[in-house]
Amino acid sequence: MSKLEWSDSYSVGVPRLDAQHKVLIRIINQLEEERRTGGLIVAVFAELRRYVKEHFRDEEVMLEAAGYADLEEHKVGHRQFEEWLTSIEMVYNSGGASAYYIAESVHEFLKDWLITHILAKDMAYKETLTATVAR
Ligand SMILES: [Fe+2]
Repeated sequence: MSKLEWSDSYSVGVPRLDAQHKVLIRIINQLEEERRTGGLIVAVFAELRRYVKEHFRDEEVMLEAAGYADLEEHKVGHRQFEEWLTSIEMVYNSGGASAYYIAESVHEFLKDWLITHILAKDMAYKETLTATVAR
């Protein structure tokens, strides 16, 4: 599979958030590489945890400050992502599925998240944020 590449059309207009979204693309590519080579995905989980903690917090703080109308609904999507991450980590830690299968399903989930969340739900706040936050 070809590597995912950042495109300017993915920009939500806030450099800090764009930089964090680029990190996710890097993690997705890293997972694909580890799935192919049978590498360790445990490091990817740690990175994902760190990523969501910082990124969701930053996004929510900015949306709150901007008075974004759909913030509560947006937060629900973030909480669902965190729940998914906790459950897939539990499956991984319990040895209930092969590392290959886990890497594949995490990879699929993140690609889907990129399309359904970042390119749709995050894009929906672009106008509100760029009008009110100059960061
Ligand atoms: Fe978001």
